[in-house]
Amino acid sequence: MTQYQEKAAVIRIERLSGDNVRLTFDCPDIAAAASPGQFVMIRVGTGNDPLLRRPFSIHQTDEDGHLQVYFKVVGRGTGMLAAVREGAEVSILGPLGRGFQVADSPACLVGGGLGMAPLLFLARKLSQLKRDRSRDTIILGGRTSSEVEPLVKDFEEFGMTVVATTDDGSYGQRGFVTAAFSSLSLPSPCTVYCCGPEPMLAGMSVLCRTRGYSCQVSVESVMACGMGACLGCSKPNRDGGYVHVCVDGPVFDAEEMAWNI
Ligand SMILES: Cc1cc2nc3c(=O)[nH]c(=O)nc-3n(C[C@H](O)[C@H](O)[C@H](O)COP(=O)(O)OP(=O)(O)OC[C@H]3O[C@@H](n4cnc5c(N)ncnc54)[C@H](O)[C@@H]3O)c2cc1C
Ligand code: FES
Repeated sequence: MTQYQEKAAVIRIERLSGDNVRLTFDCPDIAAAASPGQFVMIRVGTGNDPLLRRPFSIHQTDEDGHLQVYFKVVGRGTGMLAAVREGAEVSILGPLGRGFQVADSPACLVGGGLGMAPLLFLARKLSQLKRDRSRDTIILGGRTSSEVEPLVKDFEEFGMTVVATTDDGSYGQRGFVTAAFSSLSLPSPCTVYCCGPEPMLAGMSVLCRTRGYSCQVSVESVMACGMGACLGCSKPNRDGGYVHVCVDGPVFDAEEMAWNI
């Protein structure tokens, strides 16, 4: 798979809520090569400080060569990225990793917190395939309204049924995405695509196994290189071995993973 390193101009900055920012880059090579679930490594500073690029899921691409990332400010690197100005150029490496295996069957997408980020690209891809979309569902969950509400319209554009949940009940159903998933009557077969915190992925994995649904999970790990060179992103798998999230994933069949929770 071809990877590119592009100097990408920032063409739009959206502060969707508190610490959550969406950046749109002019990044035609990576946008054209990317598939849903893959990620990019972004150099957040102009020089070598910080030295390491930061990994971000590809939130969305379009035919005009634009690429979006959607992220939360959690530390220095994301803080620096959130402070970029329109017109600035940022070094982006990608697309990296293995993304979702898009199936023809009815789909249920489940995103918790920033785990919603890669699902918009997946929703777009599913909407472009010649298949019955009327039975597709997406469950978007967060702690509170501001983490969920700003993205709902974007997902609705793709014609899916959107179910929103918040831990505090300030928007949509009160509770976790796993509870919302349990209460849905989904078609069978159904492919379930998940991204979110590890306890959520572990819970979804059990629910899908019980119901006989195929389940793909996008997992996170701390990453230094993003390209299989440092071996810092390893996670245990169910065979007693290890996978490297950056090259073997970040998307895995849920049955491959040994959950560390
Ligand atoms: C494949 C992949 C895709 C990702 N996609 C997104 C995305 O679309 N949107 C988004 O907001 N974030 C995403 N992340 C997480 C993002 O990379 C981290 O939040 C970011 O690197 C933190 O950098 P920092 O310098 O701001 O924080 P640091 O100062 O390095 O760390 C601040 C805090 O964030 C935690 N942290 C750092 N890296 C990670 C990580 N990889 N996963 C979980 N916690 C971490 C640290 O433990 C610490 O508590 C992704 C991570 C991976 C591996
Ligand atoms: S991040 Fe270096 S091997 Fe995965």
